[in-house]
Amino acid sequence: MITPALEGLDLFGEGFVRDPYPWLDLLRAQAPVHHDPRTGLWLISRHRDIRRVLLAPDAFRPDNAQHAVTPLPVAVLRVLARAGFQLPPALANNGTASHPGLRRVVTRFFNGRRVAAAVPVIERIADELLEEARARFDATGGCDLFASYAQILPCRVLMELLGIEGIDPATLIRWSDASLELFWGRPTLDRQLEIAPLVGEFHQWLTETVRGGRTPADSFVGALARHRLPDGEPLDPQTAVGACFFVFIAGQSTTGQLLATVLRRALTEPGLWPRLAHEEGLAGAWVEEVLRREPPVTTWRRITARPVRLGGRELPEGARLLLMLMGSGSDPEVFAAPERMCPHRAEVRHHLAFGVGSHRCPGASLARTEAAVALRAAARGLPRARLAAPAQEPPMLGLLSFRAPLRVAVTAGAGSTYGLRAATARRTP
Ligand code: HEM
Repeated sequence: MITPALEGLDLFGEGFVRDPYPWLDLLRAQAPVHHDPRTGLWLISRHRDIRRVLLAPDAFRPDNAQHAVTPLPVAVLRVLARAGFQLPPALANNGTASHPGLRRVVTRFFNGRRVAAAVPVIERIADELLEEARARFDATGGCDLFASYAQILPCRVLMELLGIEGIDPATLIRWSDASLELFWGRPTLDRQLEIAPLVGEFHQWLTETVRGGRTPADSFVGALARHRLPDGEPLDPQTAVGACFFVFIAGQSTTGQLLATVLRRALTEPGLWPRLAHEEGLAGAWVEEVLRREPPVTTWRRITARPVRLGGRELPEGARLLLMLMGSGSDPEVFAAPERMCPHRAEVRHHLAFGVGSHRCPGASLARTEAAVALRAAARGLPRARLAAPAQEPPMLGLLSFRAPLRVAVTAGAGSTYGLRAATARRTP
């Protein structure tokens, strides 16, 4: 039976995407294990239940992590089949014996040493992009920090770290966005037919890259080519493509979304922006608090391997679960005054924005570092930036598992520009 108050719940609806908090609170308080008739998913809302699920991969398998939430009709499947598209178990959707080894290939690229070495790379790319943003400020009086900064920076960083060559960042971003929408969105048939070819192109390009054997040995694709499965066999190309497909998307889209939310929230918080430029550790603490309260990956999926009791309810084998990661960061059992943004709160690291257990996000350290470095660089490089229309809600990305503002429009504040030198030069006779 549905709790009457939950009858209007629509995970893709404007109301939920704009302000999910009242719904997430209601679910947690009244129906912590709730069957959503629109998607057929069981919504799991309490922090402790989600943790339990993530820490028991034998009972709660990850096989459905990348399934299309909106069924793909035959016409769309045909487009994908023509591109040879398939996603065998590789990383997030892999509950088999090949997972730990494949995961190690990823973690080697994002361990503490590599992330520390990436800081100068992140700073260089941030400075280049901010220089362009300042030029746009001068020309037009404002700019969109989502399109010109948050979205591009993680893509360029990932390309350098993984040795991705032969493609421009804008194409990779377009392919990645199309893939997220096709598998995690609620597109109409027309829209599915529009984006499926992009997903097919992405897959084809990955397949050519993997099969071509021309990538440098120290690149991610090179590392996959050297990888051996538990039985000593080399990795088949389809699985290598599946691993790249996931990492190339997860490694940049999610961080771009995080950075967009981090920037927008920082610009709306009274007095925070100038402090971020100079106060040691504040940017990192702000990022962590945003990850708790408003993470980019809002949910994640699992499927029950056998009948199981969870949160006081019996679930059958094959029940498809949606773990409400975002809501779990506001669970009052774990976080005091969860609605308040308190950088440096003691219990912040208990959030589940990166999951927990054997599939925990191996890019967590990179994502945190990248967002903190980029936030500080923006606060230093654009000290007078103000949200262009603070009272206006920006368009939002609202997919089953991904949520973020799609615009962070800023101005340089009344009467000031960033091109002081240029302005002075223009005034000089
Ligand atoms: C803010 C940014 C990010 C967030 C919020 C995020 C979140 C997540 C979540 C929730 C999972 C699923 C965890 C689970 O099933 O228990 C995951 C898995 C994963 N993430 Fe991230 N992620 C982010 C950035 C990244 C980055 C930068 C990479 C870089 C490669 C990455 C690579 C992966 C991979 C490969 C997996 C699958 C791991 C496995 O199954 O063993 N993610 N991420």
